[in-house]
Amino acid sequence: MTVRAEKDLELGRAAEFQGVPLSELPRVLGAAPDADIMLMRAADNYFSFFTRDYIERHSPFLAVRIDGLPPSQWPKTSYGAALGPYLVAHEKFDGAELLVGLKEPAKFPYAVVSVEFARAADTVDRLKVSGAATNASLRVGQTLALSACISCHHAGDFGGTLAQRPWMILSTWAKADPSYFRRYVRDPKSVNPNSKMGGFKDWPDEAIESVRRYFAAYTPAP
Ligand code: HEC
Repeated sequence: MTVRAEKDLELGRAAEFQGVPLSELPRVLGAAPDADIMLMRAADNYFSFFTRDYIERHSPFLAVRIDGLPPSQWPKTSYGAALGPYLVAHEKFDGAELLVGLKEPAKFPYAVVSVEFARAADTVDRLKVSGAATNASLRVGQTLALSACISCHHAGDFGGTLAQRPWMILSTWAKADPSYFRRYVRDPKSVNPNSKMGGFKDWPDEAIESVRRYFAAYTPAP
C-alpha cells in the first residue's frame, strides 16, 4: 500500500510511505489465531503494543519506504538516531479526548527490530486494575500508563526494558511518596538531574494524578 501523510508524526512534515497495514501483519507473519495483540520492540528496547481496537480506529502501518527511499536512506530522528529498519506511521491520527486538554497518545515507534504476537489476556489485561471499570480517573490513568509508561517500564516480559525500573517499583513509589511520583513524571530532571526519562510536562495535573492512582491500585495478578 502507498499512503500520503499530510504531516507525519515522526517526521513533522508531509511524506509518502509504502508499507504494510498492521491489520495484515498477523496473516503475513503467521500469527496464532488467538493472538489479539501485536508487540513491537525497538533497537533501544523501547516497546509498543497494538490492540485490535487501536488498529481499527487508527489504521497504523509498518513503513518500508519513505518518499521512495529504503531504510538505509531515511532521515535521522531529531537526535541523530536511525528511523529504520521499520517504522510505524499513520495517514492521520485523531486521538480520542481522554481529559480536557489531553488526547489519547499516538503510537509511532521507530527503529523497530521485532514484531511478536500475544494474547491480551496473558499480557496487557494482567496489568489492568479492577477499579478502572467503575472509576473514570483510574480508567484514564490505566490508559495513559499502558500507552506511555509501558514503552520503557516493564512488568515481567511485557513492556520496555529501557528504564530498568519495573512496574512494581513505580507502584511502590506511587503509594509511598505521591509527591515524588508526580514530580518525577512531570519533570524527571527536577528530581534526578541525570534522568534519561523525557517526562510529561504538557500533561494536565489531573492526568498525572490519574496515572499515580492507577499505579497505587495495581497489584500483580497471581
Ligand atoms: C522513554 C522512556 C521512558 C518512559 C516513556 C517513561 N519512563 Fe519512567 N523512567 C525512565 C528511565 C530511563 C528511568 C530511570 C531513571 C531515569 O533515567 O530517570 C525512569 C524512572 C522512573 C521513575 C523513578 C523510579 C525510581 O526508582 O526512582 C518513575 C517514578 C517513573 N520513571 C515513572 C514513569 C511513569 C509513571 C511513566 C509513564 C507516565 C514513565 N515513567 C514513562 C524512562 C521512561
